Amino acid sequence: MNIRVCAVAREIIAVENVTKVYRLGDVVTYALRGVSLKIFEGEIISIMGPSGSGKTTLLNMIGLLDKPTSGRVIIDGIDVSRLGSGEIARIRNDKIGFVFQFFNLINRLTVLENIEMPLIPRGIPRSKRIEMAREALIKAGGDVSWLPKKPLQLSGGQQQRVAIARAIVANPRIILADEPTGNLDRASARTVMKTFLELNKMGATIAIITHDPEIANCTQKIYIIRDGRIVAVQTPDPSRCILYTQ
Ligand SMILES: Nc1ncnc2c1ncn2[C@@H]1O[C@H](COP(=O)(O)OP(=O)(O)O)[C@@H](O)[C@H]1O
Ligand SMILES: [Mg+2]
Repeated sequence: MNIRVCAVAREIIAVENVTKVYRLGDVVTYALRGVSLKIFEGEIISIMGPSGSGKTTLLNMIGLLDKPTSGRVIIDGIDVSRLGSGEIARIRNDKIGFVFQFFNLINRLTVLENIEMPLIPRGIPRSKRIEMAREALIKAGGDVSWLPKKPLQLSGGQQQRVAIARAIVANPRIILADEPTGNLDRASARTVMKTFLELNKMGATIAIITHDPEIANCTQKIYIIRDGRIVAVQTPDPSRCILYTQ
């Protein structure tokens, strides 16, 4: 018998009642106070909220960079809370690409060396790595003439395109970005958002933390987080997406 499941969106990320408590000496911070959310395959969502509300902590949980104090994170059907750190790192490297506000490029390496970095532990030969790096940089809206340069020879907007190329070079299905346009001028922010939308069209599931409503309005859902809790899920207004505003 042929059983087909039609058009049922599959959840690729599930966060279930996650809390995160930081203890530094006598100081205890409740960064997340019971957060649940589901991100479906092929979705692009944004997370907004005041400084200190727990946005980065939440993205670090989703991205398996840190572990919840309680609750579960399920990535692609795998309950990560049951795994050891080696297996977690393997899933992270396999499925997730990260983009940060301050690019986090290694300034003493060339653009090419930065982009090909995630490919080295995979044992991909150098000629293939160069080909994949070039392809990723073009997909990220960059120019191959940047490859021999050092990151600091590029503008902020160009460095962020290099960082996106590094995030996508190994073809992750999930891209997580923490204020990726927070340090960019409007024109660069627009280019970066355009790139995320194109990657999403090609199938990537994307979550973006932002303070900029014109970025959030380009996504499909806006999660509002306050004081460690999701307090609202808003429907974006696409006419106010940065691609369509002055
Ligand atoms: N590694 C850490 N150690 C201690 N406290 C932390 C750590 N990371 C974040 N916090 C605290 O957790 C809260 C949430 O931080 P964060 O997730 O970075 O917020 P946001 O990204 O929304 O600005 C803040 O009060 C912050 O000071
Ligand atoms: Mg943050």
